[in-house]
Amino acid sequence: MCVCVSLSLKCKIDRSMKLQIALLLAVTIIGTGHAAKFPSAFSQCKQEDATCLLQAVTATFRNFHKGVPEIGLVPLDPLRIDKMDIIQGDGPINIVLNFRKVDLLGFSEAQIKKASGFTANPTKMDMSLLVPVASLVGGYKINGKVLILPIQGEGASNMTMVNCDISLKWTGNLVERNGKQFYQVDKFKVHFDTTRFYMNFTNLFNGDKALGDNMNVFLNDNWQDILKELKPAISAAFTKIFEAVVSNVFNKVPYSELYLA
Ligand SMILES: *[C@@H]1O[C@H](CO)[C@@H](O)[C@H](O)[C@H]1NC(C)=O
Ligand SMILES: *[C@@H]1O[C@H](CO)[C@@H](O)[C@H](O)[C@H]1NC(C)=O
Repeated sequence: MCVCVSLSLKCKIDRSMKLQIALLLAVTIIGTGHAAKFPSAFSQCKQEDATCLLQAVTATFRNFHKGVPEIGLVPLDPLRIDKMDIIQGDGPINIVLNFRKVDLLGFSEAQIKKASGFTANPTKMDMSLLVPVASLVGGYKINGKVLILPIQGEGASNMTMVNCDISLKWTGNLVERNGKQFYQVDKFKVHFDTTRFYMNFTNLFNGDKALGDNMNVFLNDNWQDILKELKPAISAAFTKIFEAVVSNVFNKVPYSELYLA
């Protein structure tokens, strides 16, 4: 069974920061117990075949980035985020940043560098990937202060990370459902790094071009400080997104059927 729901996630990152995110994913409620149907071109691996796994997951991002509903894989590129609000209370960055109908782009080019824990009796798993250019593109509204400057605006935005190194780690265990073993994700964590963070907000300060251009230059000149402040919020957003993506596959396909016999 597969139904479309808007998945709303809320979390508090620390006392002064909040993140709300709504993903419109075709979320699998529960695996049915019928054998999963993989597309014929889909590469599967034997358990613990690390080399095969790296290639298979990379190929999945590349060739199946539009999603594979049969196995609960949602579209990964673009990955639509309906609504994401970052509310950062104090410190050098003090903003309410609302994103609406934004697309996360670039994951079809992801290279999987590590995938471990895909064993017969899985507990901890982890995966690391490098995305050459990852962009979050869509509507924004911002209000607050960045470093010392007031910022305000509403329009189209593009936040881009170059060489985005993402590490996903999660724990879980096998549970039985409909007489089959499914892997159930328990804790999920994401860390990332990037060699360059670009920001482009159009229509800042009610369309005052000079002020807006100056602010964009200022933001990009100070990208390292800004990234440092926003990192917990961005990591939390990645955590919610990838936890939903990964759990959805594990909820849909019995664990052993993910692999070649
Ligand atoms: C977003 O910005 C990056 C870096 O400036 C650029 O390469 C990319 O083409 C932009 N994407 C869109 C959709 O404008
Ligand atoms: C920012 O985005 C606007 C609209 O897409 C574009 O015209 C402009 O060239 C971009 N600025 C930079 C510095 O990339």
